[in-house]
Amino acid sequence: MPTKRTSIIAGNWKMNSGINEGIQRCQEIVKLLPETNAEVIICPPFPHLYPLSEVLKNTPVMLGAQTVHKKASGAYTGDVGAFMVVEAGAEWVIIGHSERRQYYGETGADIREKILLAQDNGLTVIFCVGERIEERESNVYLDVITRQINEVLDPSINFDKLVIAYEPVWSIGTGKTASPEQANEVHMHIRQCIYNINGGKTGENIRVIYGGSMKPDNAAELLAQTDIDGGLIGGASLNAADFCQIVSHAG
Ligand code: PGA
Repeated sequence: MPTKRTSIIAGNWKMNSGINEGIQRCQEIVKLLPETNAEVIICPPFPHLYPLSEVLKNTPVMLGAQTVHKKASGAYTGDVGAFMVVEAGAEWVIIGHSERRQYYGETGADIREKILLAQDNGLTVIFCVGERIEERESNVYLDVITRQINEVLDPSINFDKLVIAYEPVWSIGTGKTASPEQANEVHMHIRQCIYNINGGKTGENIRVIYGGSMKPDNAAELLAQTDIDGGLIGGASLNAADFCQIVSHAG
């Protein structure tokens, strides 16, 4: 019997929406949320975590942060520590998003430190990997994914508190989605990489979600793939109805 993995639909709001809009969107999501077994997560900007945790109290919708600092606390002006997002109501955190790698120079070593610290604080991590367009076109994309995984993960990671998001950089915010077959190929490869690191059933059990221009009209066929366990949704998560429609396609 293949493992039945619980689906995840996570909305990455990035640096969008004021607090009133965020509250309204959360209320609408709760109202429109279909009957689902999927875990549903909203990742708003830091200052909105606490107020949204009040709105989402006693609902099935969970909160996540979009990153955290790699150190526990200290003189890091402008940054936010893992324990702080936990205090503010987050149970999840996105780490290693390509925008963080690109605009803030986050390296594999930084990402590893962040994941270990986030897990130590009880957070479940959505760790993002994905190739650039030139890496896909020159056919080295699987090697890139292997490297991004191997420089960050080893058996000291808590794989029960880890989800991997495959987000091809060329598909993020571009409207160009990976085809279901393209995505599924990489998801299977990710499972193999995880198996190579931790053995046992880790590769089979780990949840691998897809991100990159996932929308109501392409979600069903992506989520129907054998190795796609959910989605990390950017643009379409800013609309409650679209986001809930995506949730309705997740097992
Ligand atoms: P997108 O973003 O859905 O707008 O492409 C996905 C992401 O960056 O997580």
